[in-house]
Parts: sequence; C-alpha cells; structure tokens
Amino acid sequence: MTTVTTTEGRARAAARREAAPAVEVSAPSRREFLYYIWGASMALLLGEATAGIIWFSLPRFKEGTFGGVFNFTVDKFPAEAGAAPASQPDGRFHVVHTVDDGLLTLYAVCTHLGCLPRWQDIEFRCPCHGSRYELPGNWIGGPAPRGLDIFSTTVTFTDGTVEETTNANSLNGNDYAIKLNGRQVSKIEVNTGLRLKRPNHP
Ligand code: FES
Repeated sequence: MTTVTTTEGRARAAARREAAPAVEVSAPSRREFLYYIWGASMALLLGEATAGIIWFSLPRFKEGTFGGVFNFTVDKFPAEAGAAPASQPDGRFHVVHTVDDGLLTLYAVCTHLGCLPRWQDIEFRCPCHGSRYELPGNWIGGPAPRGLDIFSTTVTFTDGTVEETTNANSLNGNDYAIKLNGRQVSKIEVNTGLRLKRPNHP
C-alpha cells in the first residue's frame, strides 16, 4: 500500500514539474551592460574624489615646519624691551620684545601683496611698495591695509604660569602682547598654523 502511494506521489510531482512554466533568465542586453559599467565607473570616480578631498583637507604639518608649532629658542628672545626683533625665517615670523615688556610673534609677510618687510633700525620696511610697520607690527604708512598679522603663541614661565595669544583685535600690537611682568620665560611655542588677523586701519 505504501509503495503504491509513493509511486503515485512521484508521478504527480513529475507531472506538476512538467506542467509548470519554465523560468527564463535572460542575459543583460548590451545597453544594460554598458549602463552597469557606467554606474560602477561613476561610483568609483565619486569615491576617489571624496577620498581626495578628505586627504587634502587633513592637516599634515609637522612640528617645526611652517604651518605647525615651532619651539622658539628662548635664548634668542631679545633681552631688552624695544630691541630689534628675533627672526625665525623657516617659520616666517619675528618674535618681538615690546617696549612695554610684552612678547609678540609677528607673521613676517606684508599685508599688502605678500613681500617680506625687513627690520631696519627702528621699523619694518617692505621692499616692494614701501609699507612700514612699527616694532609691534603696527602699520605706519604705505599701501598695506593693516599691521602685520600675528601667530598664536604660548609662553610658559619659570614660575609655572602659561599664557597664550588669543586675539589680534586692536590696531596696536602692544594690546595683545603677552606681558612678562617680571617673569622669566622658559618656553615659547609659536603656532604658525593659527594666524590672527588684525583689523584694517582707517
Ligand atoms: S607687498 Fe609690501 S608694500 Fe606691497
């Protein structure tokens, strides 16, 4: 009895398989194939462009190279207030001991068209179009629209206190120089990646 039932079941299943419509899997047409290739190429291109943007937007400055933080040699800091500034050419800055006993780091580039003003006797003079700046970078004359910009600087003193330049929102650089107040400087860190722009002169 069981054998008959099994045989009948198999026969019915075979009949159903034969009766069922065949499922056709067609190969993609030439047009579809090209469309897929185009889509994949666009996705790849987009991915590469995104990766490139991310790569270029990441900061890659090392300590001691322009755009990074410089450990300025403390011994080079002018001992006397109002003395000629100490320059760090590879960092493109001058460290200034202001007349009112402050420390200020000036970006060495002229705010007119980017030449390099030089310290001459009592002021910075730009060799290109004659802009002039005082010791704290204040504009005196010439086509430059504002005084020399400054770099954010962190000064550590031997008594353990730490001060940092955080703004340049005055025409007078003396206003944001870090005042020594009789303290001994033990470390000067100049962040050439953080330039603080002064306001334009009237
Ligand atoms: S670039 Fe300095 S005055 Fe023009």
